[in-house]
Formats: sequence, C-alpha cells, structure tokens
Amino acid sequence: MPKTSSASLSAHNKTRDLPVLSGTVGPDVVDTRSVPREFGVFAFDPGLIATATCTSSITYIDGDKGTLLHRGYAIEDLAEHSTYMETAFLLIYGHLPTQAESDAFLKDMAKHRYLNEQVRNFFNGFRRDAHPMAILCGTVAALSAFHHDGLDIANPQDRDLSTRRLIAKVPTIAAWAYKYSIGEPFVYPDEELSFSANFLNMLFARPGNHYKVNPVLARAMDRIFLLHADHEQNASTTTVRIVGSTGSNPYACISAGIAALWGPAHGGANEAVLAMLESIGTREDIPAFLEKVKSRESGVRLMGFGHRVYRNFDPRAKIMQETCHEVIAELGLERDPLLDLAMELEHIALSDDYFIQRRLYPNVDFYSGLILKALGIPTNMFTVLFAVARTAGWVSQWNEMLNDPAARIFRPRQLYMGAEQRNFTPIHERG
Ligand code: CMC
Repeated sequence: MPKTSSASLSAHNKTRDLPVLSGTVGPDVVDTRSVPREFGVFAFDPGLIATATCTSSITYIDGDKGTLLHRGYAIEDLAEHSTYMETAFLLIYGHLPTQAESDAFLKDMAKHRYLNEQVRNFFNGFRRDAHPMAILCGTVAALSAFHHDGLDIANPQDRDLSTRRLIAKVPTIAAWAYKYSIGEPFVYPDEELSFSANFLNMLFARPGNHYKVNPVLARAMDRIFLLHADHEQNASTTTVRIVGSTGSNPYACISAGIAALWGPAHGGANEAVLAMLESIGTREDIPAFLEKVKSRESGVRLMGFGHRVYRNFDPRAKIMQETCHEVIAELGLERDPLLDLAMELEHIALSDDYFIQRRLYPNVDFYSGLILKALGIPTNMFTVLFAVARTAGWVSQWNEMLNDPAARIFRPRQLYMGAEQRNFTPIHERG
C-alpha cells in the first residue's frame, strides 16, 4: 500500500499529517488509524459510508463508469466466457484456472455437494411453511457441528476445505429447503451435472417426472449466480468479515452473511420488483404509478431502479436484461403480461425526466426477479438463490481477511448520548 501524500488534520489544538494511501485504481484513502491515539477523538461514520474497512484485491467497482471487475476481469467478459464455478475459482484463488486446475476443482466440488445424511433430520424440525432463508441460515450454521475437520482457521488447507464445502453444500441445503416447503422428496446431488444444472435438477426433479435440465435455462441460472457472486464490501460481506474477525468458524460466518442478506434493503429487492409489478396491474396503470413515485408523497419507489454505488448504470443489469430475453424466448413467454408490463415500465421510466435527471437506471434486481419467475422459482426462494451465489464471494473475502496481517477484530466506537454517571437509588427510595 504505497503512501502517496498526506492530509492534515487539526483537532483539540493539535495538527498532524495523516498518510494518504493509494490503491491500484479508485479513490485514495486517508489512514486515520492513529487519530484516536494522537487526538483522542474518533470518526463519526454511521453506515460506514466514508470508511474503507480493509484492503482487498478481489472486486473493484467504479459506480460512475458502471465498471465491475473481479480480480481485474470485467463482469461482461466473465458473463460471456466464464461460468459461476470458474468465477468462484477466480474469486478464491486470484487467477483463472488452467484446464487441469479446472477439471480437478469441478470434480472435487461435485463430490462436496452431498450433505451428511444426518443433516436431513434438521429439516423435520422446521414448520412446513418456514421461510427458506430461515432454514438456510440455521442449517449452514449447523454444518459446523458435522465437519470437525477443517475448522482450524489458522491452517490454509483447513480453510480451503471449508471454502469448498460451503460453496458446494449451500445449494443442496437451498434446494432441500424448497422441496421441504412443498412437501416433495429431497433430490440428491448429481455429480455428472454442472453446478447450475444440478441445482435446477435438485429443485425440479421428482422421482417420477424424468426431469431433463434445459441447457438454455441452466445457462441463465448460471449467469444469475455469476452476476451475484461478489460485490465488494456490501452489508453481508462486511458481516462475514466482522464475524470472521473474532475467529469464528466459517459456517457461523457464512450463516451471519445469510442473515444480513435476508433484509429487504439488501437481498430482498428482486422479490419487491415482482410485488410492485403485481400491484401496478396493467400497462394503462403505469403512468399513474409513476406519478405516485415522482410525487414522493406515498414513499413509493420504482423498485429495481437506482443504486447507491452505480450512478451511471449497473453493468450486471445489462447482462441480466439479455439473459431475461433469452429465457423468455426459450420458454415462449413473450406474451406473459407481467414481463410485458416490466418492459413497458422500463421503457417509460428511461425516457422520463425524473429518472434521467437523478441518473436512475435499472439495477440487477429489475430483471433477475423476472428471470427467476420465468424459471418457475417461487418468490420466497429469490433471496436464497442470491445467498447461494454470494457464498463464493463471502468465503473469498473471509479467506483474504484471515491472510491479511493488518486485519484486526472489528471494534467500532460510538458517540455516547446517554446519561452521565449517576448514583444508584435503592428500589424503596425511588419515587
Ligand atoms: N424510485 C424513485 N426515486 C428514486 C429511486 C427509485 N427507485 N431511487 C432513488 N430515487 C431518488 C430519490 O428519491 C432521490 O431523489 P431527490 O434527489 O429528489 O431527493 C434521488 O433519486 C437520489 O436517491 P438516493 O436516495 O440518494 O439514493 P440512495 O443511494 O440512497 O438509494 C437505493 C439507492 C438502491 C436504495 C434506491 O435507489 C432505491 O431505493 N431503489 C429501489 C430499491 C432497489 O431496487 N434496490 C436494489 C439495489 S441493487 C441490489 C444490490 O446491489 O445489492
């Protein structure tokens, strides 16, 4: 981390120069680590909007340019030429695999898809109508009770084993959570199928339906996983790093990440897009809906539009849109009223001054919900699928943190606004 310049800070009648550090690309950061010691003050930064909490070499985002890179490779190139499994390898190990590395990785990952047979018993403890995110969160944490080997986080081989187990087993738990909710038998992983084809098979095969995975749909599923694989230091990834910084086991860390993703402000937006489309009704109702959004009285937002980081366009959204059209064509859904409504809504919003002036473009979630719906995946599984995909990013970031000598346990401070010290009054003296 080269120091490029310094920034002067004055507080409490002291002035000090703080180092300014430069990354490979992107904004510089002021190194404020000495501030509490030097000045006796802390930075006030709710939501960490002004704080870089780590150095990372995994993912780079330029929100103004609409750029997303994984280990230096553009998301557009990965989506066109790579697969979710290859991208997972890239995120974890930092380079694209050779043919031999890829073959060995895929074989090993297929073997790790199975769950310990006793894990089945957990599912019976959940109500049939349990949210699949609740099942996923609990069952992933419980895997630490089964895999006692691989839990030494100081040992790189152990960490690698847990990393692979998590990426391979989370889809099986996710698919079984769905099967459990609809009362169908669990479908065991098929080692012959690709990661995404196997996932669709575990969701939709039944003992008697001779389910054949459609390659176009498997490719679409793979794109969705690939596009959600990592996204820098977002809320769930930061959660994984926070829990990991205490030395917790990897299953507990990823379970915490799943819990953070569950919230509608993070992983739940694609579900909200479908709810919005259903509430709008028909094409004719779009102008009235957009007026409601623009008046801002009702607090209604155009879900699937806008992004905190991307102020130009979300590069994932463009690829998702193309995939959406491929899936629609494959399934012959061109006349689906909800898809028709979504396309018209996007068209009208993109030519509306309100959205143009505020640089509000469709984000990844505008289309992903539509594709998942077309694939026959129920809405309460949408965030679960996001978690399946993001597991690759979470474990990569967790590994990176454990390899970083500068990483420390997360321990933020606060601006205390409560009572000053006061005398304790025994209960019989209180008025
Ligand atoms: N519909 C209508 N107006 C909007 C929207 C929207 N979706 N998003 C932002 N605005 C307006 C906002 O009212 C504000 O207007 P003004 O300047 O007149 O006050 C302006 O645009 C700037 O918005 P902001 O509040 O500064 O934006 P933000 O960075 O705080 O919010 C956001 C980002 C994603 C939360 C927001 O755009 C939003 O709520 N979008 C809808 C929900 C959604 O699709 N979320 C998925 C995000 S992508 C998933 C991921 O990567 O994790």
